[in-house]
Amino acid sequence: MALPPPPRFWAAMMMMVLVVELSVALQKCVFDEVQARVRVVTAAPVHPESPPSETRPGTLSQLQTRHPGQRASPQRALFLKKMKRSEQTAANPASPQPIRIRVWVPRESLGLSEAEKARLRPAVEEAVGAVSSLLSVNRVHGPLLLSRDINKYCKFLWKNSSVVNYNRCGRANNNYRTETCLDVTIPDDHLGGCVAYPEANSPRRTVLRPEGAGLPDADFLLYLHVWSTDKCRAEPNVLAYAVHCQTDAHGRPLAGVVVICRERLTAATYSHQATVQTVIHELFHALGFSKALFSTWSDCSSSSPQGTGCSPLGAVTHVDGSGQMRIFTQSVVSALQRHLASSDPELGGPLENLGVSPGSVSSHWESRVLQGSIMGAVLGDWTTVRVDPVTLAALRDTGWYTVNLSRAQSLVWGDGEGESFGSLSHCRDNSSSFFCSGSGLGCHYLHLHKGECKTDQYLEGCHVYKPLKNGSECWKEANHKGSSEADQSGEIFGFESRCFFSNLTKEFLSTGSSVVGCCYRHRCTGLNRYQILVSGSDWIDCPAGGIIQIQGYQGLVFCPDRRLCLYPDVAPPSDNLNTFPASTTNPISSTSYSHQTFTPAAGLTWSSLPLADVPRAPAQVGVVPALGVTAVGCIAAAVVISYRKYRLSRIRVHTAPEV
Ligand SMILES: *[C@@H]1O[C@H](CO)[C@@H](O)[C@H](O)[C@H]1NC(C)=O
Ligand SMILES: *[C@@H]1O[C@H](CO)[C@@H](O)[C@H](O)[C@H]1NC(C)=O
Ligand SMILES: *[C@@H]1O[C@H](CO)[C@@H](O)[C@H](O)[C@H]1NC(C)=O
Ligand SMILES: *[C@@H]1O[C@H](CO)[C@@H](O)[C@H](O)[C@H]1NC(C)=O
Ligand SMILES: *[C@@H]1O[C@H](CO)[C@@H](O)[C@H](O)[C@H]1NC(C)=O
Ligand SMILES: [Zn+2]
Repeated sequence: MALPPPPRFWAAMMMMVLVVELSVALQKCVFDEVQARVRVVTAAPVHPESPPSETRPGTLSQLQTRHPGQRASPQRALFLKKMKRSEQTAANPASPQPIRIRVWVPRESLGLSEAEKARLRPAVEEAVGAVSSLLSVNRVHGPLLLSRDINKYCKFLWKNSSVVNYNRCGRANNNYRTETCLDVTIPDDHLGGCVAYPEANSPRRTVLRPEGAGLPDADFLLYLHVWSTDKCRAEPNVLAYAVHCQTDAHGRPLAGVVVICRERLTAATYSHQATVQTVIHELFHALGFSKALFSTWSDCSSSSPQGTGCSPLGAVTHVDGSGQMRIFTQSVVSALQRHLASSDPELGGPLENLGVSPGSVSSHWESRVLQGSIMGAVLGDWTTVRVDPVTLAALRDTGWYTVNLSRAQSLVWGDGEGESFGSLSHCRDNSSSFFCSGSGLGCHYLHLHKGECKTDQYLEGCHVYKPLKNGSECWKEANHKGSSEADQSGEIFGFESRCFFSNLTKEFLSTGSSVVGCCYRHRCTGLNRYQILVSGSDWIDCPAGGIIQIQGYQGLVFCPDRRLCLYPDVAPPSDNLNTFPASTTNPISSTSYSHQTFTPAAGLTWSSLPLADVPRAPAQVGVVPALGVTAVGCIAAAVVISYRKYRLSRIRVHTAPEV
């Protein structure tokens, strides 16, 4: 078990990290390699022959529900599938409700400073709130209890199928201590009990561990582990990673671990919004967007509230003719067809192939096709990352969630570009304005940033305009440097400014100047219609797809088509960035956020962080006092993914008491 490093070690590490931070451009996700190491516990379906009223003996506690009479028999599943939709609706009074994600900070995340907590909490709460507003589930009835792994607590099972205790535990494993998931110790209180049947044919049983209390009002348990792991240190671009640990009888993940690399919380370049997106990304993995779960995605369209009647979809990933691995499920295909404006039935969701052996699968979208998606393998500048419709379609196709697709953020990348968009041949033939060639300067495709034509390993030779390393944002007034270059080209920075390809210059140059990205003010006059303002000029129409001249300047301004004044949700983050509580360049004083108040997300639970190391004898496991708990029912007013409107409010969350 990992022990907290001594303080000296921290000091040394923070210095090292600072250096690393400055060179970081992209944040990589290592989800797949981590998930592969984790043993997932699955709740076995309730045995058809077991008496309905009896709690399943011995092995796994019932995870989903404790209400009487529930059982999932294959016959019933079949029966349900045959029923007509209207009848199902009648038999299904409990409609899906926003998923209640409980956050638990395990004992392993010891000793976070107040400043770190002040960054962590609002980011995680915002992410959890966003996910809850997107995904609904048939809620778990009663407290959520996780299962113990029978292969761990049990030395042997009765394997004679004619004995009464067939497949039950015969003898306890005396070395068994507790359940863990990715270095996190699951508290006994979150776990079902377990028993052994010492005699093959006798109902006499020995309780090995009593049943825990479980967590009320929870559909998913997120163990949030803030730590500086080897993985964080080994790969400087790793910000966080996640796994799922347990699934219910239908494959839906019930618990997962998200590890946030602690270095990130203390970094000078810390960004609240980037952290929110990272947690959403990792949560989506843990909730189902995972190659470890693709094979258990189900069709639950005819399921009952008890969860019977889901049928696995089987293999959802297939290689297409060009060798591209794709997810072929109904919602994903139609979302991608809609996005690319194509009716090609081969348009499955393309998966990233970098570092994946041919024919294998990854848990991220192909970067060339779905650049900017929250489920890309790298997350760029947070203002360019979208919770896009194709990702939400994939989550719907897991079968475990009802997804409000109207909450998707528009994905500008590739919009309407047709089925060959993003293919290797297509990106090089100069036919799409989303790609570029060479290494010149220009504009990022959202036109919020100036860009430089570049490639990366995920783009496999295709080039795109990526935001410049610094000073790229047209909407930041502070980026106006008053350089002679900027003055010559008439640039204006500010909230209404966008990037335009231009070679405007005030001075006559015999050689002419090359086209680069310049920041000018714009205002919308209609859909895909706008005017621009250059330093010293009047407002002038900039016809989409056209080229204009400006009085007093040599050179031209190119007016982008279908990029500006078309997507209402593409906008600079805020005109008053400083109001963000945690995306800070402001110093956080160590006390300013203690006893802070937070927006309640869907039943968010914070365990208190023990301030001293607790003895780890088995008897002590599970005594983490739940002091920081504020369980706030359900989210009636769903939390919108609004990066601008984030606000502290109302419900008080008590921080851990100082000792
Ligand atoms: C299985 O159990 C039955 C009934 O207890 C017994 O008759 C039979 O011999 C056992 N089979 C084996 C292979 O032990
Ligand atoms: C889906 O989200 C939209 C936009 O937030 C909201 O107006 C609508 O009521 C939601 N629909 C459902 C079924 O929750
Ligand atoms: C695309 O444009 C670049 C630079 O403008 C040029 O070098 C290249 O040959 C073009 N490629 C094709 C296939 O036209
Ligand atoms: C960008 O950063 C580099 C070094 O990190 C610095 O030299 C340069 O002046 C910066 N540019 C702007 C526009 O801030
Ligand atoms: C601006 O760019 C255009 C197109 O590349 C070119 O024809 C023109 O000569 C340039 N003008 C100036 C003033 O550099
Ligand atoms: Zn990932």
